[in-house]
Amino acid sequence: GKPRQPSDSPLYALLQAAADYYRQALKSHPQRRAAVDYLKGRGLSGEIARDFGLGFAPPGWDNLLKHLAGDSLQHKAMIDAGLLVENPDSGKRYDRFRDRVIFPIHDSRGRVIAFGGRVLGDDKPKYLNSPETPVFHKGQELYGLFEARKHNRNLDEIMVVEGYMDVIALAQQGLRNAVATLGTATSEEHLKRIFRLVPSVLFCFDGDQAGRNAAWRALEAALPNLQDGRRARFLFLPDGEDPDTLVRSEGTDAFRARIQQHAQPLADYFFQQLSEEADPRSLEGKAHLVTLAAPLIDKIPGNTLRALMRQRLTQITGLSVEALNQMSAPAGRPT
Ligand code: CTP
Ligand code: MN
Ligand code: MN
Ligand code: MN
Ligand code: MN
Repeated sequence: GKPRQPSDSPLYALLQAAADYYRQALKSHPQRRAAVDYLKGRGLSGEIARDFGLGFAPPGWDNLLKHLAGDSLQHKAMIDAGLLVENPDSGKRYDRFRDRVIFPIHDSRGRVIAFGGRVLGDDKPKYLNSPETPVFHKGQELYGLFEARKHNRNLDEIMVVEGYMDVIALAQQGLRNAVATLGTATSEEHLKRIFRLVPSVLFCFDGDQAGRNAAWRALEAALPNLQDGRRARFLFLPDGEDPDTLVRSEGTDAFRARIQQHAQPLADYFFQQLSEEADPRSLEGKAHLVTLAAPLIDKIPGNTLRALMRQRLTQITGLSVEALNQMSAPAGRPT
């Protein structure tokens, strides 16, 4: 593939220095108390905060700016790294992250490439993230993947969740295989990366409409990555819950049992969802179902899985396999 990150970028050293600063501030800044209390209030131990390199951006406009000091050239690099913001009118430069808990985002090699920052209260925006930079490409990164792999080189399944705190709360409860897409849709690129490491992915998004939409988009991104031997499954959470709130309220064992009992195979979710859109009790519904399902099934590269999904479609609709074959793309050439 194409090189995505200039490995010699000077931005890496700056980002690492910023991560060190934020981490140190969480330990010793005079105003750290509110941040420490916030993290404790969300059930996190000091150990897990260390594991994820959590930090604190103190209140004020120029803490990091002054700490990293430097000349105008250095400031320019800090802007490129997303650490400073420049006011286009006044030209004034100031810290992007202020009075927030800081989540460093690592690439697969463990280099700091970006940050997320959460307000300590209910202000908006709840999360502020680094912008797209030469070393941070939002649609491609998975928060927590480096940490999960560091903890266990032989993962057999990766859980995909929405948010920073979902990853960390799960890790705190001993479930150390979660990664987050950080408010972006799960992409084929994400799935490629995951399936290079593990044969199984479990999607576990928030129990709300946004989470359910995210699940369907994840299914669409998973289809072209489903070689035989790989699997994707879905765990839908009760309304109003996300992995963080649920694992903290019910505990590790119950959460594991929930996965065991309720994680839905992709094929089940697929046909259940499409049958809600096109009611297979009528002929028209069956026809509609075929037009919705067949092109999606044809994206599956795994010959056996694709054949089984087509067979299931014929079972649901009563259509013969031959008739189905005649009306859709030739098997083995997924588009
Ligand atoms: N997000 C973001 N900016 C926002 C809201 C959300 O970047 N203003 C991203 C964050 O990565 C967040 C994820 O989308 O973690 C999921 O959003 P949401 O479910 O709304 O937030 P939570 O992660 O549940 O946040 P928290 O538990 O801290 O309230
Ligand atoms: Mn969301
Ligand atoms: Mn949400
Ligand atoms: Mn949450
Ligand atoms: Mn959430």
